[in-house]
Parts: sequence; structure tokens; C-alpha cells
Amino acid sequence: MELIIDTADIEAIKKLDGILSIAGVTTNPSIITKSGKAPEQVIDELVAYLKPEQKLFVQVVARDFDGIMEETRAICALRPANTYAKIPVTREGLRAIKAAKAEGLNVLATSIYTPEQGFLAALSGADYLAPYCNRMCNYGDGVARVIDLIRMVETQGLSSKVIAASFHNVEQVHQLILAGVPAVTVPPAIAEAMMDHPGTDSAVDDFTADWQKAYGRNTLFS
Ligand code: E4P
Repeated sequence: MELIIDTADIEAIKKLDGILSIAGVTTNPSIITKSGKAPEQVIDELVAYLKPEQKLFVQVVARDFDGIMEETRAICALRPANTYAKIPVTREGLRAIKAAKAEGLNVLATSIYTPEQGFLAALSGADYLAPYCNRMCNYGDGVARVIDLIRMVETQGLSSKVIAASFHNVEQVHQLILAGVPAVTVPPAIAEAMMDHPGTDSAVDDFTADWQKAYGRNTLFS
């Protein structure tokens, strides 16, 4: 499974990338605006930092077919490989996903609110499908619908990978990992919540205190 970080915060990416096995970074227009930086600067920083094997996902802003195609080509040209244009599954977007795949461009179908939308993008060959798990919870059981999409893609023998997105708690991620999701993109706060537990810190404090009391030092060997 691929663990992707959903942020444009380069310092947060560097921090997490130093600790965990991060397969890439996703952004969207709202995430980039939150950085407070110009989009060109954010994208330059991401391109400069990511290793060639780490994936970069940048979302189109244009909403019409021609604009989406132009931005998709520009996004895919940012790096020699492992760079994907995120295209929302509007009607214009679905049309662009089909055309972009026919041109051999890398595509992530995004803003997916139903398994059917994701499935249609998969039929057009989208490389990744990003269902918005937490936002789907506004309309029913978002986790269950994401699992439906995973099963639909598998059952129909399609090559698209589900990259579950829009998480607001660790439990949503937990359920999808358990269900075999191929990829998740999580904001830094969720990645940190997955790592940390006060019980772990307390256990390590106890080990250190016992060792210090017995041997007067905090290292295994003197
Ligand atoms: C990721 O690519 C999505 O754009 C993102 O996860 C949406 O998350 P949100 O629902 O928290 O805005």
C-alpha cells in the first residue's frame, strides 16, 4: 500500500519523509492556497524536494475540457516520471480523463463522491481514483462506499488504483487499510496521529527510569 501525504507544507513533508516511507504528495487548489505562497513556488519546492520515485499529484484548476487538457499536459511535464494530474470527475473532467489517457498522460480522477463516478473514471483508464472518504460520510457510510469502489475495480479487473482521500480521523484510515485499499493520502495531522500514542511514550519513560536507576546511564553500553 502507498502512503501519500496530502499537503503543500514542504516542512511537514520533509519531517514526515524523514520518519516514514512516504510514496508521494498530493495537493489540491485549496491546499496550495493555504500555504500562503504562489502556486509556482509551491510546485517548484515539491519538484525540487521529491525523489524521482516519489509521486507528485497536482490538481488542474481549469474547468473546461481544453483548459483541463492544457493543464494536465503541463503538470505531467513537470518531472520526467511519477507526476500525475488530478482531474475532478465532472462531465468535462471525465471527458478530459478519457482524452488524457488516450494521450498517455498520468491521471488521478479526483473529487469522487460515489463509487459509480470512480468506476466510470476507471473504465477510461484513470491511473488513480480518489474517493473523498470523509466528505462521503455526509451522504452515508463513506468508508463502506470507498470499499465498494475498491471491490468494483477488483471485480471488474480494471487497472486503476484507489487512493482514498479526505480523512478526518485515524479510524477511517484504519478501516480502509484493513479492507485492502491500495493507497491512502492523509494530511500530516492524521499521519502524526497514526504514529503517536501516550502509552508508547510512557513505556519508554519507564524503561529509561529503570535503566537509569540500576546502571546510572541512559545508554545500553557504557
Ligand atoms: C486529496 O487529494 C483531496 O483533495 C483531499 O484529501 C480532500 O480532503 P478534504 O476533504 O479534507 O478537503
